[in-house]
Amino acid sequence: MNELINTYKSLPTPFYAYNLDLLRKTIQLAKKHAGKHNFHIHYAVKANANPVIVEQFRKAGFGADCVSGNEVRFALDNGFSAEQIAFAGVGKTDEEIKLGLKHNIFSFNCESIPEIKIIDSLAKEMGKTARIALRINPNINAKTHHYITTGLEENKFGISTWEFEDLLTTLQQCSNIDIVGLHFHIGSQIVDLSVFKNLCVKVNQVQQWFAENKVFFNHINVGGGLGINYDQPEEDSFPDFENYFQTFADFLNLQSHQSLHFELGRALVAQCGQLITTTVFVKDGIQTNFVIVDAGMTELIRPALYQANHKIVNLTSKSSNHKVYDVVGPVCESSDTFAKRISLPETQRGDIIAILSTGAYGEVMANHYNLREKAKSYFFSENGKQIKNR
Ligand code: LLP
Repeated sequence: MNELINTYKSLPTPFYAYNLDLLRKTIQLAKKHAGKHNFHIHYAVKANANPVIVEQFRKAGFGADCVSGNEVRFALDNGFSAEQIAFAGVGKTDEEIKLGLKHNIFSFNCESIPEIKIIDSLAKEMGKTARIALRINPNINAKTHHYITTGLEENKFGISTWEFEDLLTTLQQCSNIDIVGLHFHIGSQIVDLSVFKNLCVKVNQVQQWFAENKVFFNHINVGGGLGINYDQPEEDSFPDFENYFQTFADFLNLQSHQSLHFELGRALVAQCGQLITTTVFVKDGIQTNFVIVDAGMTELIRPALYQANHKIVNLTSKSSNHKVYDVVGPVCESSDTFAKRISLPETQRGDIIAILSTGAYGEVMANHYNLREKAKSYFFSENGKQIKNR
């Protein structure tokens, strides 16, 4: 640990520090528990598109889940085969669709009837048959933050059950599509596994309805969404993959010829990343004191955007005296706040602070607001040895 902190001190902050051993262990654990049931995992590239991270998933044989043409291209460029690429998104442009068609991707996860019609006509133009999965909006409450809930009727995602009759007509009219799958994704950071049981019940009903109408699927894709422990990341660094996959094995009626697919992002990468930052100033306030660090909402936007809570640790303070602080960044916005009223050992200018569980939706959501520079990433092994940077 000391060696690691010394290395951190020698590097320009802010930066993302990734523990590659933890990542590999998480990948192996997920693979083991999914493998018991013969389930397939597509890594959700949106969670962290750092090539060093993504490479670990390719090496482990995972597929890729993409939500833009650039993610599809990136997955192909980084060695995923087109056969492993699922492509979701409510607003796929013609260019993005053509890219997927050109490479014959595993499936377009279609989010509306107009999208299916456009895919069919573009496929016809290109002399192709598009493999499509129907993304259904199951109207299930994921019991998570409303900004990351995607499976309620009020959300823009997927085809709703009241559209099913029209959907059948459309499917009959389209001759350049091959209906291969049924897709769902109901939200992110879901920690209550009963939500996934509810999803299974709904998937069974939807499948039954389509079977009665002579539409059959080779695969079911239940998306991602498994949450992690942001409160106690050090004690609980691995999500409960075992019970997660078991829930689907127990409650989803899979036919013998069908395969079951997952699109996990956060659960696989969140805990391996930390945002390392230096205390620039400590400033007295009226109700609290401010620890002002050199990372901001430009490097990690989750607290500002979703009131997300990330555990914060002072890595270098030797003080046994604790004080209450707001930990804030330098960006000119009051929302540039990582935590309010948290207790830390007495903190001074120069102290190194770690913001934990930032491997998912951290680096990838960074932006240049205030013309700030992109933070670098460094990769470490469990014993604190630096492996590479990017
Ligand atoms: N599949 C689809 C179609 C998705 O839209 C998502 C995430 C996933 C899979 C992966 O979900 P996960 O396993 O990571 O929960 N930026 C937000 C999270 C947005 C999630 C977007 N979609 C955050 O920082 O909490």
